[in-house]
Amino acid sequence: MSMIVRPATLEDADGIYAIEEESFSIPWSMDSITHDLANTELTMYDVLVRDDGRVEGYGGLWRVLDEGQITNIALRQDCRGNGYGELLLRVLMESAWEKGCASIFLEVRISNAAALGLYRKLGYQVVSVRKQYYSEPVEDAYVMVCKKETYHWAVK
Ligand SMILES: CC(C)(COP(=O)(O)OP(=O)(O)OC[C@H]1O[C@@H](n2cnc3c(N)ncnc32)[C@H](O)[C@@H]1OP(=O)(O)O)[C@@H](O)C(=O)NCCC(=O)NCCS
Repeated sequence: MSMIVRPATLEDADGIYAIEEESFSIPWSMDSITHDLANTELTMYDVLVRDDGRVEGYGGLWRVLDEGQITNIALRQDCRGNGYGELLLRVLMESAWEKGCASIFLEVRISNAAALGLYRKLGYQVVSVRKQYYSEPVEDAYVMVCKKETYHWAVK
């Protein structure tokens, strides 16, 4: 089974919503997802898609001037741990650098070892802590940033 990463369209909303429900205690609403997918001036969404068309993962980013903000990144459970999360995040970030972003921010639960490992691998650093930022369960968030000049490009 091969996979590709491509820009998301409105037709991917159901697949993205299914991943949200599988991944998070408070998933994004379908309205928020379709709003972001339609608003391509300021948002960038990519999907990881299997060759039979099933959406296996997605990542999103908002752009404001030269700053990016990762909205979310998630893969279906049975797809995790095979390098696809890294591939998806690299495609999203490298598109953001090309479109003029100089730095990319994100928030992450402080206990989320897999996401933290991925972000650190690509060059993100913790810049602050947001106390009790998350609910269900209540937990602090790390705010992390990666600057274009300190991004860890993949060895080709
Ligand atoms: C976070 C997530 C997107 C990572 O994607 P993934 O496909 O599982 O990760 P990859 O296989 O691409 O791993 C890339 C790197 O991440 C780190 N990593 C991945 N899983 C890890 C784990 N369980 N523990 C620690 N580090 C881990 C490693 O540095 C790994 O690089 P390596 O293989 O060279 O060691 C995925 O696990 C996921 O969807 N999780 C649920 C949703 C979520 O928490 N999203 C983040 C919200 S902020």
